[in-house]
Amino acid sequence: MENVYRTHTCGELRATDSGKKVILSGWINKIRDKGKIAFIDLRDREGITQVILFPTENPSLREELDKCSLESCIRVEGTVQLRKSPNPKIPTGEVEVRVEKLTVLSKAKRLPFLLDDPTVNEELRLKYRYLDLRKPENFQRLKSRHEITMIIRQFLSNEGFLEIETPLLAKSTPEGARDYLVPSRLWPGKFYALPQSPQLFKQLLMVAGIDKYFQIARCLRDEDLRADRQPEFTQVDIEMSFVTREDVLNTMERMIYHLLKEFAGVEIKLPLPRYSYEYLMENYGSDKPDLRFSLKLEALGPTDTHSSDNVTKYFVITPEELSQHAETPLKKRLQRFLDEVKSVRWESVTSLGVLQKKGTKLKTLYQNGSLGEIFEELNKHELNLETDGILVIARGSRHAVNESLGEIRTFAGRLLELAPKDSYNVFWVIDWPMFEWDDEEQRWTAMHHPFTHPRIEDLPLLEKDPSKVKALAYDMVMNGYEIGGGSIRIHDQELQKRIFKIINLSEEEAKERFGFLLEAFEYGPPPHGGIAFGLDRLVMILTGAETIRDVIAFPKNKKAQLPVVDAPNEVTDEQLQELHIKIVHDSETTSIN
Ligand code: AMO
Repeated sequence: MENVYRTHTCGELRATDSGKKVILSGWINKIRDKGKIAFIDLRDREGITQVILFPTENPSLREELDKCSLESCIRVEGTVQLRKSPNPKIPTGEVEVRVEKLTVLSKAKRLPFLLDDPTVNEELRLKYRYLDLRKPENFQRLKSRHEITMIIRQFLSNEGFLEIETPLLAKSTPEGARDYLVPSRLWPGKFYALPQSPQLFKQLLMVAGIDKYFQIARCLRDEDLRADRQPEFTQVDIEMSFVTREDVLNTMERMIYHLLKEFAGVEIKLPLPRYSYEYLMENYGSDKPDLRFSLKLEALGPTDTHSSDNVTKYFVITPEELSQHAETPLKKRLQRFLDEVKSVRWESVTSLGVLQKKGTKLKTLYQNGSLGEIFEELNKHELNLETDGILVIARGSRHAVNESLGEIRTFAGRLLELAPKDSYNVFWVIDWPMFEWDDEEQRWTAMHHPFTHPRIEDLPLLEKDPSKVKALAYDMVMNGYEIGGGSIRIHDQELQKRIFKIINLSEEEAKERFGFLLEAFEYGPPPHGGIAFGLDRLVMILTGAETIRDVIAFPKNKKAQLPVVDAPNEVTDEQLQELHIKIVHDSETTSIN
């Protein structure tokens, strides 16, 4: 049976359809009513078609047209004809539909904002996200997300991975962020924790012999929000049995290769480069540098990477780099860059300078602390700095210098527009330290989760010198974002006990937190490892979006609220009673001394 609402979509008609009787339905994108003649740009998700009406010819047309407002949903019936003045900007631009019948399917009231107004603030757009999503570019992002997900699903399925769901109402996972808790009605005083990732379940699935698992999994973490972080996000979560690190890296880089080729038509070179964590920190001051541009950190003076004493390090931005790829004038870019450098309090370094070479002199564009010692060092060395080139230089402890220069390097890339658009730089970060020293708690902690396997060659060092032990953990970085991370897991009980001991996790505590996994591991777990990719981040990069909020249908705002439904909100006393929960307001807990 024919569809009563449409014979074609609004993106479909071409000159060859001229003369056809058609029906279209969609939303009014634009309306020009000149009395005797009226034009409507009719939009659906596939495109826009111009429709033309002569309201004086037919009183019912005039009546319906008078009900039409922007974004009302209408149906038109008519004949396709060639346009007198074609619009080459849209695929349907050669034709229009001369309307014989117009029906307003539902009227839109006055809009809270015009869809194509770029000045509308995000809060308002998120409150009316269903209107915001009518914008073609926003629809395209959701469509791209779907395509990316399908490509990944298909790839994994072809490789023998099974898609399996794991529980949402469960127990704390070891990712280390704060949990979202759900009170149990049936078990007064007890709570479920929403998963920060399916980590423990996917390991249980390996014990179950599933061998190759994946899931497009929702994860929930109550942590501070950023442009690339949401409290609720999606992972492409993967786990494999009987594999070494090599097998996981190989399969995963083939997946990313396939994705970039299918989705973006870009072929990256495999195998992907692998850099150690230490190499990246020393040379780029970050564990996820954007390597689409260089700006490599160099040391002035001694270069012993193991000494944490005072060091002076710098990077240079050449005049060529400043003039490449840029869409904004240099002066403006430079100002934005300096403004951002100035807005940070660089307390951890002794001194920091942004200098520009002018003739034979160095002009100070920004300084933090005294540059005396820095200039002393500079006088001793010959730098390869051209006129107009910029030198960013810092002095202090090795760690502080690396981190602050790394942060400025990241600003520089973004604000000075140093990276070529539509290009992809992808690599692995390997050889992560297994442990981190927690100064506050005076103990070693696991840098990833405590089930991460140490490098085999480092096993003899475990108790002797935890600082030197590297983990079989890996991250994948794309264009300066951590897009995925994982590890080979420990499947040997004895080794697991040694790790718990080093991080000072008592047997009782380990049992309380992960007892069910440890118990399962007493029943013949296979060697296994896996990874999880941040799907939102991947889509953000591949669609050129600025934040992951842009690629999520209903994202949380910067204050972790969901404006479209006004959540979180208060609940009724009855609901609280059922859950055995009593709200204690801050005023009741404040004591007066
Ligand atoms: P991890 O915590 O590194 O590892 O997370 C994996 C990937 O998920 C993405 N990601 C996020 N994306 C958006 N918002 C967030 N708040 C957020 N947090 C993380 C990142 C990150 O690389 N269970 C382990 C994986 C494993 O070991 O297999 C895990 O969750 O892109």
